[in-house]
Amino acid sequence: MCGIVALVGSREASPILLEGLKKLEYRGYDSSGLATVTIDRDNKESYISCRKAQGKLTNLLRLIEKKSTLGHVGIGHTRWATHGKPEEKNAHPHLDSSGKVAVVQNGIIENHSLLRSNLEQKGIKFSSDTDTEVIPHLISEEISLLKKEGHKIGGSLLQLAVQKVLDVLKGSYAIAVIWAESPDVLIVAKSQAPLLIGFGEGEFLCASDTPAFSGFTRTILSLEDKELALITPLGVEIYDSLGNRKHRAPKLISGYESDSDKGDFKHFMLKEIFEQPETAELWITRYLPNGLPLESPVAFPFEDSFYDSIEEIQILACGTSRHAAMVGAYLLEQFAGISAKVFFASEFRYAPPPLARNVLTIGVTQSGETADTLAALSMEYERRSACNQKVFASRQLGITNRGESSLSRQVSNVIDIGAGLEVGVAATKTFLGQLLTFYGLAIIFAGRRKSRSLNEISELCNLLRGLPKQLRDLIVTHNKLAEKLSHKFSSTKDVIFLGRGINYPIALEAALKLKEISYIHAEGYPAGEMKHGPIALLDHKVPVISIANEGIVFEKVLSNAQEAKARDACLIGIAPELPETMIFDHLLPIPRTSEWISPLLTAIPSQLLSYHIAARRGLDVDQPRNLAKSVTVE
Ligand code: M6R
Repeated sequence: MCGIVALVGSREASPILLEGLKKLEYRGYDSSGLATVTIDRDNKESYISCRKAQGKLTNLLRLIEKKSTLGHVGIGHTRWATHGKPEEKNAHPHLDSSGKVAVVQNGIIENHSLLRSNLEQKGIKFSSDTDTEVIPHLISEEISLLKKEGHKIGGSLLQLAVQKVLDVLKGSYAIAVIWAESPDVLIVAKSQAPLLIGFGEGEFLCASDTPAFSGFTRTILSLEDKELALITPLGVEIYDSLGNRKHRAPKLISGYESDSDKGDFKHFMLKEIFEQPETAELWITRYLPNGLPLESPVAFPFEDSFYDSIEEIQILACGTSRHAAMVGAYLLEQFAGISAKVFFASEFRYAPPPLARNVLTIGVTQSGETADTLAALSMEYERRSACNQKVFASRQLGITNRGESSLSRQVSNVIDIGAGLEVGVAATKTFLGQLLTFYGLAIIFAGRRKSRSLNEISELCNLLRGLPKQLRDLIVTHNKLAEKLSHKFSSTKDVIFLGRGINYPIALEAALKLKEISYIHAEGYPAGEMKHGPIALLDHKVPVISIANEGIVFEKVLSNAQEAKARDACLIGIAPELPETMIFDHLLPIPRTSEWISPLLTAIPSQLLSYHIAARRGLDVDQPRNLAKSVTVE
């Protein structure tokens, strides 16, 4: 979603801002812009140079090449449209009427309509449809008032003006502000949206996500909610909302990567699908190493006591992370025998279940920045803390791929799935990392609750350890098969995925992947549910893709597939090669394996099929329309 980059330094800001924005491109955006404070030494005045462009960053670059934006202090932004269409006029930065104050913002200003109409009544003309534009106008108004009160022009005046405006804003925001009359100063502030300050040599770079800092610095300070930072070439001063100075040292962060490159792959998504054996290998080395006692074979970074007295698990997540959570809940209940429920994070916040005792709440988010998930976790924390009884105490665990994310700062117990930066908007290798983490939790709880014998636990551990090799072979084979099969989907408008039991969430995930990147309408159903309605959609134009692995529901899924075949649907099977699976018109074969680990394999063919269908259609696979990698608004 939107990305902020801002710089105070001694070098020209624009190239550094553009480079930073490029590194945030993967988050998803539809327009971009930047502004610098340009000092005109001849005329002894400063002004804001601002350029904005619809579409890709290359459009902005072209504009700046034609007409430069000089200055050592600047702000940049990639916008993912919320209020107002993705047009140039709505791209950030937004300026006040005098053109002297420029602002970029991430998040949503919920009371913008009221603020806007108040400003309009005072004669202020707006030039965009955004919620953001109220901010520069309000800051400008405060600046005038403070000047009238006799405040001296400079950083402190701007700080005061920005703070007064923040006090009236409702919603979530991360902002960066520059002012032509105070050319050395940058103000940044945040509430419920990430903002980090990187300490370079004689310069400071602010950004909404760590990849923007690659090649710049590893020394980073993360701003907390309701904090504001006044940044000049001389240093960074942090203040709370009451204007009290706060002192906090930056931290050296390790292990963040830039978006690297695609290597020989056409798209990041394909590269990331091919990286999955490595994802599994790294996860196993880190969390399921050989040599640990069978009673506790999983090396998650928590004391044993962390798991004590947990009676129930609730999992909050969105999108693909929710599908991983659904497989997780199946494993926790069916393998480990502990009750587990999955919630859409966006629903949970406003309709939580009644408080149950001794609950572990797990938030799953690969980006660690999903606003719905963070807000749901924080609501749950607060309502449990308000109870003041030990059995209702809040116990939270985060599962993420970004150790330096907002989730990691919000939740004290975090498992980093360690899949490496995922650039493609469609989650693939992070899904695998999340799944593996749930296998780890299921093994821990099965051991603690003695719901499985040590033999069964050891068998599952061994199956997981054999996964990297299985994945390697599977991906190579299915890459070719999926490319071939993708030709059949040239005019397909609807696809149905069927799965049951542990593979039902894989049907949901397959449908999500296909619609995200190919824009083909796809639905995932529990196979037994099809006859209760969706079967009405079937005819020869609608492919039905059934996920069928040997196990308790194998025959049932095959019968459900036959029902589709009887309605002329083209039947595709993600299933082992067996006499029973000859019913499929096309088979995407998976190795015969235990039902427990089957989702780790059945997910692969549908990832590759979606990829090849979208690539054949010539679509922007890595940055599909309307989607963002980090969904930082609710
Ligand atoms: O970063 P998160 O895992 O919290 O993201 C949640 C969803 O936005 C995400 O999974 C989305 O559905 C992906 N684009 C899936 O490919």
